Amino acid sequence: MLPLPCAELHLHIEGTLEPHLIFELAGRNGISLPYADAADLAARYAFSDLQSFLDLYYAGMTVLRTEQDFEDMTRAYLRRASAAGVRHAEIMMDPQAHLARGVALETCVNGVAAALATSEAEFGISTALIAAFLRDRPAAEALGVLRELIAIDAPIIGIGLDSAEVGYPPSLFTEVYDLARNAGLKCVAHAGEEGPPAYIREALDILRVDRIDHGIRCLEDDALVERLVADRVPLTVCPLSNVRLRAVDTLADHPLPQMLARGLNVSVNSDDPAYFGGYLDDNVQALEAVFGLGPDALAMLAANSFRSAFLQDDRRTALLAEVDSWLVAVRQSGVS
Ligand code: ADE
Ligand code: ZN
Repeated sequence: MLPLPCAELHLHIEGTLEPHLIFELAGRNGISLPYADAADLAARYAFSDLQSFLDLYYAGMTVLRTEQDFEDMTRAYLRRASAAGVRHAEIMMDPQAHLARGVALETCVNGVAAALATSEAEFGISTALIAAFLRDRPAAEALGVLRELIAIDAPIIGIGLDSAEVGYPPSLFTEVYDLARNAGLKCVAHAGEEGPPAYIREALDILRVDRIDHGIRCLEDDALVERLVADRVPLTVCPLSNVRLRAVDTLADHPLPQMLARGLNVSVNSDDPAYFGGYLDDNVQALEAVFGLGPDALAMLAANSFRSAFLQDDRRTALLAEVDSWLVAVRQSGVS
């Protein structure tokens, strides 16, 4: 099986912290964890909804204390992603989750950025960093952190919005997104994961985002689907995440085939792979197995990912050519 060359556009770097690495970093930093071992921790990854996951996600990342910790986590993701076929990664991080527990902004930004700086040379993966804001914390706090990121000239290309969705509509963050856009930053936001289609509309109309993270609940609103199709709005869909967080019962119930049939601009992503049972290749393979997606459909998803990425034109063209070569090679060999 040739790995499908893809861009990963929806990935929380703190969600790549594998149980064994949580234990390793806890040991390094003298932190005692309330779990017997990594297997005991992993056994608790049975989530009932987004919040039940977020509770463990925020607990897990408390082992990150030094720049080296952030760098090691990021490099471990890049190594695994390169094996998965990822050729370009736009990586979200949650600065407020670290600031709130006394870790300096420079520590988390510089640690992640150090691993990203060598990613192309080490793993052949081009990268970009997105600072995501926690929508269940005050918008004024997000605004302050964004101002600080701009003041320290943090190497970010854009901002995102994540954490508990329902009850925290995008419109709360209008000022944050206005500042980001005026500073030349790209804008993305989680919407329509657990929240209603109205949140997707708000993200488009009020935050004026370039991409929607998840967006699966758009299918409940035909007029919205028509608009998303007409405007080619990228939706970064995360199938295994949606199963693990019970947005859908099983992968067979996932709306991805419907979304493709409606002509939506969908890409496949892993979200928080250490928590949801798989990296990008695992998501692709699961879709192949359950829906029988063939090489043409997979190549279209990969091309969507590169077209939806915040890439320079020459890199985008080169990566789209890799998808064409993959399709030729797969057709010749008869296996994907
Ligand atoms: N933070 C990390 N993963 C998330 C997800 N799937 N939804 C919202 N916030 C998140
Ligand atoms: Zn996410």
